[in-house]
Amino acid sequence: MADPISQFATRIAYGARQLPRVAWYIGHGMVMRRLSRTVRARAGQGPPPQARVKVPDRRRLYADMAVLFQRDLANVEAGIYPLPADHDGTLPVVLNRSRLFFEDLPDVHRRRERRDVRQVLTEDTRGKRPNYYLQNFHFQSGGWLTPESAQRYDTQVEVLLNGSANATRRQALLPLHEVFARRDQRRLKLLDVGCGTGRFLDSFKQAWPRLPALGIDLSEAYLGEAKQHLKQWCWIDLLVGNAEALPVKSESQDAVTNIFMLHELPPKVRRVVFREFARVLKRGGRLVVVDSLQLGDAPDYDGMLELFPRSYHEPYYTSYLKEDFRDIAAACGLAHLRDVNAFVSKVMVFAKR
Ligand SMILES: C[S@@+](CC[C@H](N)C(=O)[O-])C[C@H]1O[C@@H](n2cnc3c(N)ncnc32)[C@H](O)[C@@H]1O
Repeated sequence: MADPISQFATRIAYGARQLPRVAWYIGHGMVMRRLSRTVRARAGQGPPPQARVKVPDRRRLYADMAVLFQRDLANVEAGIYPLPADHDGTLPVVLNRSRLFFEDLPDVHRRRERRDVRQVLTEDTRGKRPNYYLQNFHFQSGGWLTPESAQRYDTQVEVLLNGSANATRRQALLPLHEVFARRDQRRLKLLDVGCGTGRFLDSFKQAWPRLPALGIDLSEAYLGEAKQHLKQWCWIDLLVGNAEALPVKSESQDAVTNIFMLHELPPKVRRVVFREFARVLKRGGRLVVVDSLQLGDAPDYDGMLELFPRSYHEPYYTSYLKEDFRDIAAACGLAHLRDVNAFVSKVMVFAKR
């Protein structure tokens, strides 16, 4: 156990990194909601649907976020991973991302009002990506397809999760520790499917810098951002690929991670993707999924979960909320080990039989 002075120093350092981040993104959320109220009032519209459904109040949300951050810190203190660095960039970089976020809000608002969600399905893109993928998820400009969208994405997710997105992703490191601890990391392999801009892989590399990791995503633009973000790390590859047909050998991976992706897939595709997870895992390997809470996981949040796809374009989220992942996993030889709630998300852990 660490001596009290170094434990105190760790806690101060953790708070000094996380509290300003949380305040920054909560501040963005407040400004965004105020702007939205002003625009709606000017257009003579009433309050958004959130105002009429029972959702957890701010105090409850912040209390549950605090539990997540306490767990994150406890993992650091237990030596599961080092004091996390979020690598948000220099002040000009952070300010520029904030500018990109706010500049996009009027377009997001227009798309939400008009339910205009197919702007990325064009003559150029049709047939090059699955149809379900070619949508303006979250009503964001460029869908998953443009470098600008990739630059805005992390601010959008952190604003949505009040600055807790990285801490949520890090909760996948604990179940990985259970299979990777005391083993020669150079001989293991991790695959992160739908790795997006690489924020989870960054946290992963902070814990296991020499463990070969592969990130796969359908978006070239997001992988471009990931490449930039991850340039300090070795033994890391990024590949454009479809989770429905992973360009990876069968039984080659010790662990597969998948973060914030399943809720964006149609139910049929989720089943195909699970079969792929199972195919590429070695026997005894772990699948760790981090995604939204589902109905019943934290009953007070059910109203909020049901509202989410109305404010953000999430065409498959309602089906996700009721999906039985234990069943889907069991059908392809993956045993469900546990689910652990993490604020508005949860970590689902499976083992290949
Ligand atoms: C909400 S983002 C999550 C990204 C990242 N895992 C994170 O933690 O932020 C969903 C990601 O899944 C990717 N994606 C969606 N469908 C996919 C598919 N069929 N194959 C590979 N990637 C896919 C998208 O391009 C996007 O980067």
